Amino acid sequence: MTIADLALKPVEYEQPADAGGGACSTRHAWARVPAEPAPAERAALKDRIRTLLREKNAVMVSHYYVHPDLQDLAEETGGLVSDSLEMARFGRDHAAQTLVVSGVRFMGETAKILSPEKTVLMPDPDATCSLDLGCPADAFSAFCDQHPDRTVVVYANTSAAVKARADWLVTSSCALEIVAALKAAGHKILWAPDRHLGGYIQQQTGADMLFWNGACIVHDEFKAQELLDLKRRHPGAKVLVHPESPADVVALADAVGSTSAILKAARELDASEFIVATDNGMLHKLRTLNPGKTFHEAPTAGNSATCKSCAHCPWMAMNGLADVARVLETGANAVEVDPALIPRARQPIDRMLAFTAALKSGQPAGALVPHLGAA
Ligand code: 13P
Ligand code: SF4
Repeated sequence: MTIADLALKPVEYEQPADAGGGACSTRHAWARVPAEPAPAERAALKDRIRTLLREKNAVMVSHYYVHPDLQDLAEETGGLVSDSLEMARFGRDHAAQTLVVSGVRFMGETAKILSPEKTVLMPDPDATCSLDLGCPADAFSAFCDQHPDRTVVVYANTSAAVKARADWLVTSSCALEIVAALKAAGHKILWAPDRHLGGYIQQQTGADMLFWNGACIVHDEFKAQELLDLKRRHPGAKVLVHPESPADVVALADAVGSTSAILKAARELDASEFIVATDNGMLHKLRTLNPGKTFHEAPTAGNSATCKSCAHCPWMAMNGLADVARVLETGANAVEVDPALIPRARQPIDRMLAFTAALKSGQPAGALVPHLGAA
């Protein structure tokens, strides 16, 4: 199956900054990426953050795509660096009253929805995601209204208002299992927003799925032909692919999965060389956890291009040490979610967390999915 076979709803992901969209265009996001601090300033900022975390009873929760300093500092100070599913669970369960979420807006909003009583700070509140931008709540709600017979499954990379229209939330680390369980229970699915992840899940599960037409601007750029060329030059290398990538790239993978699944595959697969089709922020953890192994970035550009891979999310890149210190000091950039939305937006997140907790502990997770009749 190709993307051309899917029933897609056309949407735009860019909104002009002067229309109130802040740093939503990639050009504005890149312009806001913080400069690298000089070594002495960097060391001073890290010290300041360590002290502030203790003083403010705060904990850092970082995604694998943010600057290595923010990943290392999170781990070193008792916080977490992980994929979006584990970030949500960790933020909900941690005793700290302040969470500093380094990532993109939907991650901060999910943390706030799960813990409205906590303060959730973000280094830059305009760090967003093309999937979130490409799925405006009003248009999405109208799409759902047209298909009342379908169970609404929404990817975590969405706004609180879109989550509030969903029956189930998924991340790339649990979408396969949740959609398979829904299919087994007789559900037809309305899926949003990532068409590549959705296409992959449909191909794997055979579920009846109707798609919103969103994409990740980073993963959408990986090129199958150039990946094949690179594979030929590194015949022993295994290919690790995030499922937000196009289907022809996923088809070349030795392992497909979330950022955590990619890390696990790099540790467990019998190879010493890998080609990685995901944001290159991931290379920091891949290399530090696998010192004897070699990792190549998958190509995002053709042979005539001067740059072969520009696989880095401009919004993830907006997170920096100076802003972490500043928000801890001042309480600036506290994430707010409309309190009226929280109970409804929380439902699909709670379902996902309960389902994945059951899976992890070997309980029958499928029993958590309401049965609609024969699949
Ligand atoms: P993960 O859930 O795999 O960490 O992915 C989040 C994301 O934004 C990928 O682009
Ligand atoms: Fe969104 Fe893609 Fe950036 Fe992830 S890498 S936050 S999916 S734009």
